[in-house]
Amino acid sequence: AAPQVTVTPVAGRIGAVLGGVRLSGDLDAGTVQEIRDALHAHKVVFFRGQDHLDDREQVAFTRLLGEPSVHPLVDHDDGFVLPITSGYGGQADAWHTDLTFVPDFPAVSILRAVRLPAFGGDTMWANTAAAYAGMPEPLRDFADRLDAVHSNVYDYSALAPERDPEAHAWYRELLAAAPFEAVHPVVGVHPETRERTLLLGGFAQRLDGFSAADSATLVRLLQGHVIRAENTVRWSWRPGDVAMWDNRATQHRVVADFGDAVRVLHRTTVGGPESEGVDG
Ligand code: SIN
Repeated sequence: AAPQVTVTPVAGRIGAVLGGVRLSGDLDAGTVQEIRDALHAHKVVFFRGQDHLDDREQVAFTRLLGEPSVHPLVDHDDGFVLPITSGYGGQADAWHTDLTFVPDFPAVSILRAVRLPAFGGDTMWANTAAAYAGMPEPLRDFADRLDAVHSNVYDYSALAPERDPEAHAWYRELLAAAPFEAVHPVVGVHPETRERTLLLGGFAQRLDGFSAADSATLVRLLQGHVIRAENTVRWSWRPGDVAMWDNRATQHRVVADFGDAVRVLHRTTVGGPESEGVDG
């Protein structure tokens, strides 16, 4: 059948707007496959004009991509919807890949604009496969052999105590008792595209086997390749927008330039097979 979905890249290495789709739980398998293919090719895809979506329908669409997953420590609406609100729990204003402090972090994240500030509050994404491909070969070989320890000590939900003191205190206590930790290879082989990607970002606390100082130096070096301007795309949200990203091949962050304005986005995530290490 002829493709239904139009794909318009919005930056050189990452990001495309998909047109001709009304997101819902009723999309046919062919359309879902086209969305999936575009996602794997462009790493983050954007849908305009999806004002009809509510939480229930967002979850129904999410289910078409896989089993919905949740943040292990934060309450969700309708079972699977994580409200990301400027007034609650801080902001995701550091580069990260969602939930890498658990072993089976999400494969795909879907973010829907609910309330937007009058200005600012863009989200940026970086292509971590392009980052790996762009590194000189000796650095790729070196990175192939590294493991990183990811922890939610730096989870943004744990920061910004002035926002919600009660939730903050609860979260800090929980973290003090038992922070979540997961070890991932720094270079993963994406299970669907077979591309090698760099897995670092805000939760990557240190490299296994290195001192804190050496870890910080090496992570800065590698992360510098991820966030090179040409590996990124920046999205200015409009009402009705939905963004969906391949969480195994990207990092993202919000640009926290909207002061005290209210900004609400609703996120759902999908589980899926993890990237493999380079040795299989
Ligand atoms: C997120 O980290 O999933 C949310 C990013 C944003 O608030 O733009």
